[in-house]
Amino acid sequence: MNVLILNGSPRRNGNTSHALRAIEDGLSPRHTVESLNVYDFTFRPCRNCDACKRNGGNCIQVDDTVKIIEKVTAADLVIFGSPVYWWGISAQLKDVVDKFYSRDDASDGKSPTLRTKKKIGIVACGADSLSNPEYKLISDQFHCIAEFLGWEVVLDESVCAAAADDLAKDAARLAALKAAAEKL
Ligand SMILES: Cc1cc2nc3c(=O)[nH]c(=O)nc-3n(C[C@H](O)[C@H](O)[C@H](O)COP(=O)(O)O)c2cc1C
Repeated sequence: MNVLILNGSPRRNGNTSHALRAIEDGLSPRHTVESLNVYDFTFRPCRNCDACKRNGGNCIQVDDTVKIIEKVTAADLVIFGSPVYWWGISAQLKDVVDKFYSRDDASDGKSPTLRTKKKIGIVACGADSLSNPEYKLISDQFHCIAEFLGWEVVLDESVCAAAADDLAKDAARLAALKAAAEKL
């Protein structure tokens, strides 16, 4: 199974990075894993110009959209990691998600589509306690996206951690994330 891990945090060694590393550690060797920091790529926000619909499902902007959307298209399992920013995912990850628009249908039967059998995981790291609605808001967003594109949500983890190294110091939570990934 091809696994793509997308880290939507700009903090290179922050909580989302630690959470995703624990998950990667838990994945079995039968998975081929590629882990990317969205921050390392350039995304011009979607303009709703619809040029992608006339361009084989490829965004026409001069950035890394096609490179990343190709990887999402090819993956069997995509794990989306994000810090909570204002009750939602980071702008960096949202820019990627918005570009799903370029491949959200297969109406011509020829263009690549994201409407394929695919599994996804969600990992949201926020400073507030897990009782804050932010985690459910993010989870609901991805469940709606998955339902729309015919994907299955197989991992849904919320992490409460504020300072960049909070999760790194929480061995029990890291072990639980690893254990959750071992079941995938
Ligand atoms: C722009 C911004 C907005 C934030 N908004 C929230 C928020 O709405 N709720 C929350 O719990 N934490 C919020 N935080 C805190 C981060 O979610 C928290 O520090 C998280 O652990 C960062 O993850 P990272 O270390 O992977 O980047 C915000 C941080 C920033 C920089």
